[in-house]
Amino acid sequence: MQKWRIDFRVWHWINAFVIMGLLGTVFLRKTFLSWRANSELLITKLSAINIDIAPEEAVKIAKAIRAPMWEWHILLGYALAILIVWRMILFFTQSGKENYKNFNEQTLHDKIVKIGYLGVYAIIVFMSITGLLMVFHEELGLLKETVEFLEEGHELAYNVILIFVPAHIIGVVAAELAKDKGIVSAMINGGEK
Ligand code: HEM
Ligand code: HEM
Repeated sequence: MQKWRIDFRVWHWINAFVIMGLLGTVFLRKTFLSWRANSELLITKLSAINIDIAPEEAVKIAKAIRAPMWEWHILLGYALAILIVWRMILFFTQSGKENYKNFNEQTLHDKIVKIGYLGVYAIIVFMSITGLLMVFHEELGLLKETVEFLEEGHELAYNVILIFVPAHIIGVVAAELAKDKGIVSAMINGGEK
């Protein structure tokens, strides 16, 4: 069983909450706080009380309703950018290397899982860089086309995270129930026992 130092466990759980929070903000943006759905709702509900509103105005209001929620995407995004730097520093510790040592002696399944983690780290780096470039596009004087390109890449890579999170949770639970009893509690108590 792996041993995880306290700082690595703290990193893992903060990272887990931040990423699930980021996915939560995306979920809200695409569902309950969607500007398309809410601007149409504004138009129909206002017209029912005889108020006519231009579609562009309804879109502005719908986006204003969404804005305070989306600030959380940016705040959690800053946290994620710090967390990925912290993870890089952790690579110099025993826990940080735990999953990547004696690679050749591992089963094919475990090799795939561990390469998968490294792939996810690469995606997190990409999300952080594209996200920060979008936030600071004015200060950096980026072209509109560049920002659109960044957003497309950011949204495409998001799908990897969307698939990874449930797959990872199902994976560790399945491992816990099969050959790796204690794998989940080890990420909580360090696996010293
Ligand atoms: C909330 C439920 C979660 C549970 C129960 C959980 C549990 C675990 C466990 C037991 C491990 C060690 C597995 C192993 O050594 O192969 C692990 C590793 C890992 N977890 Fe999670 N996790 C959760 C959420 C997340 C989320 C949301 C992320 C977001 C990206 C994440 C990212 C990672 C990464 C990258 C590793 C590999 C660490 C390394 O570099 O060695 N986990 N997790
Ligand atoms: C795993 C981490 C992340 C995920 C899964 C994620 C996901 C997404 C998704 C899906 C969108 C497109 C939303 C839409 O148009 O419907 C988006 C947009 C955006 N994200 Fe992220 N993101 C992450 C990290 C970050 C980070 C680290 C930052 C920067 C601090 C950031 C800043 C932004 C910005 C500025 C936008 C554009 C919003 C707009 O056009 O109004 N994101 N993100």
